[in-house]
Amino acid sequence: MRKRPEELRSHRWLGTPTLRSFGHRSRLLQIGYDRDDFAGKPVVGIVNTWSDLNPCHVHLRTRADEVKRGVWEAGGFPLELPAMSLSENMMKPTTMLYRNFLAMETEELIRSQPIDGVVLLGGCDKTTPALLMGAISAGVPAIFAPAGPMLRGNWRGEVLGSGTDAWKYWDEKRAGLITEEDWHEIEGGIARSFGTCMTMGTAATMMSLAEALGFTLSGASSIPAADSAHARMATASGRRIVEMIWQDLTPERIISEASLDNAIVAHAALGGSTNAVIHLVAIARRAGIPLSIERFDEISRRVPVIANVRPSGQLLMEDFFYAGGLRAFLGRLSAHLDLSCITVSGRTLGDDIAGAQVWNEDAIRPLDRPVSPPGGTVVLRGNIAPDGAVMKASAAEPRLLHHRGPVLAFESYDEMAAAVDRDDLDVTPDHILVLKNAGPQGGPGMPEWGMLPIPLKLVKAGVRDMVRISDARMSGTSYGACILHVAPEAYVGGPFACVQTGDIIELDVAQRRLHLDVADDVLAARRSARPSSAPRALRGYGAIFAQHVTQANEGCDFDILGPGPQLIEPEIH
Ligand code: FES
Repeated sequence: MRKRPEELRSHRWLGTPTLRSFGHRSRLLQIGYDRDDFAGKPVVGIVNTWSDLNPCHVHLRTRADEVKRGVWEAGGFPLELPAMSLSENMMKPTTMLYRNFLAMETEELIRSQPIDGVVLLGGCDKTTPALLMGAISAGVPAIFAPAGPMLRGNWRGEVLGSGTDAWKYWDEKRAGLITEEDWHEIEGGIARSFGTCMTMGTAATMMSLAEALGFTLSGASSIPAADSAHARMATASGRRIVEMIWQDLTPERIISEASLDNAIVAHAALGGSTNAVIHLVAIARRAGIPLSIERFDEISRRVPVIANVRPSGQLLMEDFFYAGGLRAFLGRLSAHLDLSCITVSGRTLGDDIAGAQVWNEDAIRPLDRPVSPPGGTVVLRGNIAPDGAVMKASAAEPRLLHHRGPVLAFESYDEMAAAVDRDDLDVTPDHILVLKNAGPQGGPGMPEWGMLPIPLKLVKAGVRDMVRISDARMSGTSYGACILHVAPEAYVGGPFACVQTGDIIELDVAQRRLHLDVADDVLAARRSARPSSAPRALRGYGAIFAQHVTQANEGCDFDILGPGPQLIEPEIH
């Protein structure tokens, strides 16, 4: 059923014969808008995470204008709403500390103002989940226009991938295999255009999952930021949101258990970032849909990795786009998807991807010739991770998937950083490196420290992977036998806090087991002897974060931001 203009949310602000409406209208006229620009039209908020300090989003300033063009064309009234830009590269200690901040900001920008629907502009790592979480909580029609990946990197004719090749050549430099000049050249070639990281990091993963969930126009998530098709996608998103408002196509009609499963299928087949486990749990929670981290393991056991994109594969997002992009990729996964889910197009996912073709069988592989077999993302449990831990098994050296070794434990990042380059460090390739106090409370904000550096003496000896365990996260562009998101984290007194140097840990990925070989009573004694930790921050947003953040297996959202009434309308007096 189509809405009538008087049923628009913005009508309460702009359409009534009250003194307040007079005030609102006169202020729009003050900006220079004409009454005909907005009277009886859907008001579209363009939530824009552009910033000069976010290289992944620098084009969003002009993309907002392209969205506006589409909104005007379709008979809507566009207004740009600047929101905090979470620049993965620049923000410290970690953007994850601020994901919930942006989610709250998005929700309240919508709630407090005359907004009928939103186009969400973002893509750099945490911006995607934050914008979706906020829009789901606000409950008005929302379409996500992803920032898109940057172009391939280049160094002396060699293709460079974001993050992945930075880590690789950093180790080469540490081992003395490349020069300082080489390193500077790489610095100038690894990020050649605006747009997000172009490996299958958290950005590409989350933009793809937003599409698999149904929140973008079909095919939007893979378009390189610098491609002219990207500008056209922005305009088309602007046109579409106006119709979505008339149709009252709200997020609750798009997100469901089935669409979340579709996103998890896509995650498995992309070889997606481990961060997506946390973000999807948080997104589901906003919609009031229970989602356990075990679901990622269950689905991953039957879905192989078919996207040949680094770090699990060889190519980059630009190649994935030319191969047909996410539409073709989802088409190939049809048998694993619920094609009846509704997307922002107002049609089913099946309708959206009908006829999509794969143009490069190496970039998007057939299911029977995958990049790696099912089981790419695993959820481990054991006496040091009773609430679970996550591992990207497809990015680890296979010999390490069943491993038993002595622990070298660090209580903090600084302690680890000071130790790893020491020539006299007592460490062998069989050791298991453990980093504690890097979780949601301990980091704080659960920084991406989970790809612990291989100690220099081992790098020089040619070691490139070893088992590493932490309560931190890891960049989606990282790789290695890294066990992440240990819950509960060490800082809040989880049993992981009691792991000590010299203990033995056994990792058995096939059995999904992570076991500390220490007797229960010894472990209990260590726990009770451990003093409790003070909150990392006592004022401001940091204190709010410390009071309310949940653990990794619960999505690290704030406990006060669970599902609730979709839109608590403010009084207009
Ligand atoms: Fe923005 Fe990687 S730094 S996506």
